[in-house]
Amino acid sequence: MKTTLFDVQGKVAVITGATGILCSAMAEFLAAEGVKIAVLGRRAEAANRLVDKIVKAGGEAAAFLCDVTDKGALEEIRTEVLNKWGHIDILINGAGGNIAGANVGPTQSVFDVSVDDLRKVVDVNLFGTIIPTLVFAEAMVKQGKGSIINLASLSSIRPLTRVGGYSAAKAAVQNHTQWMAVELATKHGEGVRVNSIAPGFLLTEQNRNLMVNPDGSFSDRAQKVMAKTPFKRLGRPEELLGAVLYLASDASKFVTGSMLIVDGGFDAMTI
Ligand SMILES: NC(=O)c1ccc[n+]([C@@H]2O[C@H](COP(=O)([O-])OP(=O)(O)OC[C@H]3O[C@@H](n4cnc5c(N)ncnc54)[C@H](O)[C@@H]3O)[C@@H](O)[C@H]2O)c1
Repeated sequence: MKTTLFDVQGKVAVITGATGILCSAMAEFLAAEGVKIAVLGRRAEAANRLVDKIVKAGGEAAAFLCDVTDKGALEEIRTEVLNKWGHIDILINGAGGNIAGANVGPTQSVFDVSVDDLRKVVDVNLFGTIIPTLVFAEAMVKQGKGSIINLASLSSIRPLTRVGGYSAAKAAVQNHTQWMAVELATKHGEGVRVNSIAPGFLLTEQNRNLMVNPDGSFSDRAQKVMAKTPFKRLGRPEELLGAVLYLASDASKFVTGSMLIVDGGFDAMTI
């Protein structure tokens, strides 16, 4: 007999950054598992395109437009999602990314980094995780159940060269994952869990300028990453889906404040 341990049928997921490469794969996958998907994005065209794709495949989804750092807009979306589907069971904080001006370029030094761009990177990655968590966890606490999944990074564990702002922000995302997990469990019981996934290196829009040369070949950085990865390759978006299902379902019922690393062994590798 099939168990219900990983069953997410009928749940409602709010996914920020849902039109991005990693989170659109998560949205389509969860929809195929019977989850209703609130697609949160900034661009109507991209959000509607993903909703159409999910609906055509037999799933249920709706688009909601906002910037993830806009608390008022997120609160309105919370009301709309609750009016539409009655509950919010899963939040994936996927919106995030990097800005070239916050990086140290190959011929630059730390003194060339733009403080404004550093602030923007921290804002979207850290506050873009904290604010939706505050908004949607409130509904979860009222229901007594919910799972929040943050997108951390290998740079949450040890900073990656060149991307100091992104690394600081993702380290803070993981710190906040643990803090929020403890705070919610202590004050509201074990129903609402907060965990993170730390993906290894996957080629997406937010890291393309670091990983690919203008002629389309892999950059030196991408080659170094693959050399330090025991699997000797970059990850694929679908390789994060098992981690998503585990954290979203009751299979991870006793798991909160943890980070699930999905990286082909990069973090374990020394020499
Ligand atoms: N690709 C990787 O190798 C990798 C590794 C570790 C962690 N991550 C993290 O995974 C998450 C998904 O990234 P991805 O690689 O799919 O990148 P992506 O660029 O394809 O997707 C990120 C999405 O976030 C959205 N976004 C950015 N700022 C926003 C804002 N202020 N409001 C609303 N939406 C906003 C973007 O429009 C985009 O749709 C990010 O948090 C990223 O930092 C990615």
